[in-house]
Amino acid sequence: MGTIDVHTHFVPSAWPDLSTQVGPGLWPTLRVDSERDAMIMLGETEFRRIGDDCWDASVRLADMDADGVEMQVVSPTPLFFSYDKSGDEAVKVARIFNDLALEICAPAPERLIPFAQVPLQDPDAACAEADRALASGHAGVEIGNHVGDRDLDDEGMVMFLQHCADNDIPVFVHPWDMPGSPRLDRWMARWLTGMPAETHLSIIAMILGGVFDRVPPTLRLAFAHGGGSFAFWLGRFENAWLQRPDLIGVSERPPSAYLDRFSVDSVVFDPVALRALVETLGTSQVMVGSDYPYPLGERPVGSVVDRADFLDEAQKRAIRRDNALRFLGR
Ligand code: CO
Repeated sequence: MGTIDVHTHFVPSAWPDLSTQVGPGLWPTLRVDSERDAMIMLGETEFRRIGDDCWDASVRLADMDADGVEMQVVSPTPLFFSYDKSGDEAVKVARIFNDLALEICAPAPERLIPFAQVPLQDPDAACAEADRALASGHAGVEIGNHVGDRDLDDEGMVMFLQHCADNDIPVFVHPWDMPGSPRLDRWMARWLTGMPAETHLSIIAMILGGVFDRVPPTLRLAFAHGGGSFAFWLGRFENAWLQRPDLIGVSERPPSAYLDRFSVDSVVFDPVALRALVETLGTSQVMVGSDYPYPLGERPVGSVVDRADFLDEAQKRAIRRDNALRFLGR
């Protein structure tokens, strides 16, 4: 009865040439440097070096065994979302990568649990691809936290979330497409400050945009990276909701009333931060996630939970496993 890791990524070891299969434009390609190493390329630019833990089930399973992980949710790498392309193009990309995800997970169907990407810029197509993916073996979807300037309270996004609630599809929200500027192009700042801010904004959009008032509590929704900056700044948000209702008080209830409507993963590294999540959101709303196999992820997976001496064994079991089973509908 090992840990369930709800936040991992895959990249296939090969995929069709998207400029001929999908349409002209700048698409990611893979420069294979050896059997174990490759470089994701965007045009002539090196985007990210990856290894065979991105695509080889046997490598993943060995790492999982080493860390006591029984199951991984295997999600797309956000670079491939293609939300900036046309809906038709993004449908084709989603089908290609969703089918490749099934191949990667096929050697261990009880342990590698694929989540699909959807063409979120076209909500009808996103619903259709989510249904196709679920029917073909996916267990849920991973979505980016925004599409251009449209946040999670956009009408189309809400329609998609409603569809997921109606069809029992768990949704994992991952930050991506962080704003850039010369100030943020240093020190991986878009990952270190941009990603937590993006997720924070998305949770605020769900609350203030009235999404939680409209979609039913049956929606199973989780946010990456501990929900970003949200838990730490809930007090500021709550105070603003109470003090400036003329500007932000559009949700039916104060922000703190919606904390049981979503979960977050545990990849915050520091037990002090994990404690803030548990005390703010509740033990039932936190699940182990690692961001495996990327270097900003946690290894051994779930070690922040192991080091959390404020949690009793029942709480640790809930965070390592039971809450994820509920999220996955198992
Ligand atoms: Co991630």
